[in-house]
This record gives sequence, structure tokens and C-alpha cells, in this order.
Amino acid sequence: MSIEWTTAVRAAKDAGELIMRYFRCTGTVREKGVADLVTEADVRAERVIAQRIHEIFPDHAILGEEEQAGDTNAEYLWVVDPLDGTTNFAHGIPHFAVSIALLHQGRPQLGIVWNPVREDLFSARLGGGAYHNGRPLRVSTEATLDKTLIGTGFYYDRGAMMEATLGAIGDCFRQNIHGIRRFGTASLDLAQVADGMFGAYFEFQLSPWDFAAGQMLVTEAGGRVTDCSGDALPLRKTTILASNGLLHDQMLAILKPRMGTW
Ligand code: IPD
Ligand code: CA
Ligand code: CA
Repeated sequence: MSIEWTTAVRAAKDAGELIMRYFRCTGTVREKGVADLVTEADVRAERVIAQRIHEIFPDHAILGEEEQAGDTNAEYLWVVDPLDGTTNFAHGIPHFAVSIALLHQGRPQLGIVWNPVREDLFSARLGGGAYHNGRPLRVSTEATLDKTLIGTGFYYDRGAMMEATLGAIGDCFRQNIHGIRRFGTASLDLAQVADGMFGAYFEFQLSPWDFAAGQMLVTEAGGRVTDCSGDALPLRKTTILASNGLLHDQMLAILKPRMGTW
């Protein structure tokens, strides 16, 4: 394994250990915006990750959700969500993850998603496939929505974007899908697309730290990831659709009419 991979895994596991020490203990929960929570664990975990990365790669830039505002044009850029699923974490729900990706000249090279509760390590390297604790990941082979389970998420919006998401969920049900799940951790939702559990997953706003690692899991497992217009994901806030590839156009047909309604 490369030094980059070892560094990412070590950083994710150290952050996960710290997060677990805070889990279900009293701690400060702050609201960054309406319903957008941040805890001491988020901030401290990001510091641990930044320290681990900079010990080995002092010149690399880091873009993290909480404090690290590295240059997105840097040759080497680490994109970090120290605690993905903070709302679950803050409410005592054991479903959250640490997400770390490395980009070289803007291209994702590796992605790590670590679920410290279940000790699940999801990892992908460019051209090297995607794995769950060493087991190769493959997207599902379902080609019709009526055989499919879909994942989604809501951004911290209580207005038109939320209504658009609810509308899209209704449209999915009208295609007789098996169901919709909202588990509250985007990186793990993407891992579930990579693992063939979800045929597709969409959300109308995610940030690079939410999707950078998970996106690699999906593409390396044979799936497709775009924004909800079908274009490549930018390195900024965006809509997202991840699928097994076979369902992508059917999902775009549902999501596109909702675009521009917020
Ligand atoms: C959130 C989670 C959630 C998704 C939100 C994200 P956070 O990340 O991934 O599943 O629906 O859009 O912001 O705030 O817990 O790191
Ligand atoms: Ca997140
Ligand atoms: Ca986060």
C-alpha cells in the first residue's frame, strides 16, 4: 500500500477513536445554521486528521469541513469530513463516519470512509477498485427502478430545496421502487451504492467533503456519479446522483425537472 493510503487510513482511524470517546457523552453541540450541528468531536477530529497528514505531507493542502481551508487549486489536496453524520452522532444514533480523499491536480486518487462504530473500512484507489474490509465492492445490476432501493438526504434547508427533495421522493415512489432510505451519513450512503444495496442515491446539496471519498467508492465499484443534471461533479457545493450506471438516466429524468425550483 502507498504511503498516502496508509496515512489516510491511520488518520481516519485515529479520528474515529477520538469520536467514539465523545459518543453518547455530554458535550457541546452548537448550531452552525438551522438544524446544522457541530460538536467538539467534529472540530477535534479534523485537527487529528490534519496533524496526521501534515506529519507526512507538510506541503499538501487540506480542505476540511470545520477549519482547514486549503487551496482547492493545490497540486495535492486532501478533502476531509472529520465526522459525517453529525446529527446522528449528536442524537446518539450509531451511524456516522470519517471521510478522507486525496486529489492530485483535481483528480481523485484515493478515498477512505471509516465507520468507527462497526469498524467498517471502505476504500478505493484510482484504477484499483473499491473494497470493504478487503472485500471487493460491486454496484447492483438492477436496470429498473421497480426493483430498486434508493438512498437520499436533505440538506439543512427548510424551504424550496427541501420541498424539491420531497417532490422527487414522491416521483420515485410513483415508479414503484422498493423503498427510500435516509440514513443521515452521505459517505456511507455512497458506500451502499458501491456495495449494491442502493441502486441509486441522490441529494440536492452536498459539499466536497461529503462526497469526495464516497464518489471514488462508487466509480471504482463500477457505478456512475454526476450532479443531478448529468454533469461531472465540481469541487464545490453541488447536487449529486450516484447510481449503478444502469439506473442513471431514469433517475436523471426524475430529478432534472426538480432542478431550478429552489
Ligand atoms: C451531512 C450528512 C447527511 C447529508 C447532509 C450532510 P454532516 O453531513 O452527510 O447525510 O444529508 O447533506 O451535510 O453535516 O453530518 O457532516
Ligand atoms: Ca458531511
Ligand atoms: Ca461533517
